[in-house]
Amino acid sequence: MKITDTSDLWWKSAVVYCLDVETYLDWNDDGVGDFVGLSHRVDYLAELGVTCIWLMPFYPSPDKDDGYDISDFYGVDSRLGSHGDFVEFVRTAKDRGMRVIVDLVVNHTSDQHPWFVSARKSRESPYRDFYVWSDDPPNKDEPSVFPGEESGIWEWDEKTEQYYLHRFYKHQPDLNVANPRVRDELAKVIGFWLELGISGFRVDAVPFFLELPEGVTDLDPHEYLRDLRRFLQRRSSDAILLGEVNLPYEQQLEYFGGAEGGELSMQFDFVGMQAFYLSLVREDAAPLTKALGQRPTIAPESQWANFVRNHDELTLDKLSEEERQEVFDALAPEERMRVYDRGIVRRLPTMVAGDPRRLRMAYSLMFSLPGTPVLFYGEELGMGENLDAGGRAAVRTPMQWSTGKNGGFSSAAEKDLVAPITPDGYGPEFVNAAAQRHDPDSLLSFIKLLADRFRSSAEIGWGAFHVLEHDQPSVLAHSLEADVGRMIALHNFSPDARAVHLRIDGEAEGTELLDLLEEGRQELPADGKVQLDLPAYGYRWIRIVRPGQKRLS
Ligand code: NOJ
Repeated sequence: MKITDTSDLWWKSAVVYCLDVETYLDWNDDGVGDFVGLSHRVDYLAELGVTCIWLMPFYPSPDKDDGYDISDFYGVDSRLGSHGDFVEFVRTAKDRGMRVIVDLVVNHTSDQHPWFVSARKSRESPYRDFYVWSDDPPNKDEPSVFPGEESGIWEWDEKTEQYYLHRFYKHQPDLNVANPRVRDELAKVIGFWLELGISGFRVDAVPFFLELPEGVTDLDPHEYLRDLRRFLQRRSSDAILLGEVNLPYEQQLEYFGGAEGGELSMQFDFVGMQAFYLSLVREDAAPLTKALGQRPTIAPESQWANFVRNHDELTLDKLSEEERQEVFDALAPEERMRVYDRGIVRRLPTMVAGDPRRLRMAYSLMFSLPGTPVLFYGEELGMGENLDAGGRAAVRTPMQWSTGKNGGFSSAAEKDLVAPITPDGYGPEFVNAAAQRHDPDSLLSFIKLLADRFRSSAEIGWGAFHVLEHDQPSVLAHSLEADVGRMIALHNFSPDARAVHLRIDGEAEGTELLDLLEEGRQELPADGKVQLDLPAYGYRWIRIVRPGQKRLS
């Protein structure tokens, strides 16, 4: 692939960092994080090497689904600050070379949104058709996305005597995108936030958002998504849509707009993420290798977003029943560590019993897989979870800044905190940014190194990807090649050291192999055959330095 101007398609080589303003830093000490606090941590994020901050919902909300139940698409939750505070933050981030994307949650509104309040008043409401109503729902037996918390996807409305659709909680009625007025409203929402300086959106629940009510035939959902993308780029030419589409790869390809692109700019790789965990517990690279081999070819402008953990449960829904059980048994042995029969509510450090080698191997892998890495706040420190918070809230504990009161997150009384602190060995006393910042051996320093090397290795975000054949089943060895150069990466899933014998073809005599994560170089023999050694759970990034190449590393 020829990289003509990498800054044009900035998302291809971005380091994305997801955070929730309410749990990041509380500046006015009311127990809730805020935009002023976040602005004071922009330098921390810049130092980490983040280039794009993804904000989870910060809009007015009854907060029954951590802000994913929005009652005003144009507002800022007053606990978090004002529009002024939001703009100050975006400006500060820009000043430090970072972009901001925000959650776009338009599959549904809160039931407190004025549209729904009106819609359920009477069947004649001008907003009735903003939602999906039915006398006799077609798919009444379909399970909710939250089994155990919601019994179904249709709720009976007593007053107007019809059911309404809600793919998520019943307090989150689904919007009807078949209605052109809804589409116009959503375009205005997009336009509004773009004018405030953001660089795009993380789009929530895309397949459900585009789902049309039964019988609607005059709208093609993918044509609509294409229209939305065009609209977005007319308003802001380099803005992106990073979509949440937890579907098999073939279907994800459709949401990219096929091999030519034109719909979502980026999508999370849920399939690869789940295969990674299977590889981790099996100490075998095969499941991940297989998944990566099945990734469809996407357009040069499209991109995969790689992640290890996010703010939801670690879903294992794409694994078979037996595979899921294997991962559950190894990483979430207790029932309270699981949710919805498909996911785990722990963060990675506790799942690997704090083993720093496995942790580092996982993040080294995430930063070196073809695509763009996405961190969830606190991952850079190795934060754990609070299982007592219940379900998905377990991983949404306050950011751990120091050993100070409430981990430096807030000086409010503990009972007033928006979320409980992480307890035990993973709490702020043991895991915090202040201590790790000055420790060259800390996880934070390691993640900084990965971000730095990733940013100077355009091959990762842009390059052609190949798995290299060799003799060690526990090791994934892959090559990434673009016009800037070539690198290879090796990751060992085994608790034992491995000597990997492989052949690096196509390189001229005098080529050197330069280690990027630590000191080391060796010459590539004329026949391309090399032995590369890895310690237990080891990882290496190696630049192929061709004769005469002027790269620093
Ligand atoms: C996906 C989000 O990631 C999740 O947190 C939320 O509950 C649902 N969509 C509903 O918006």
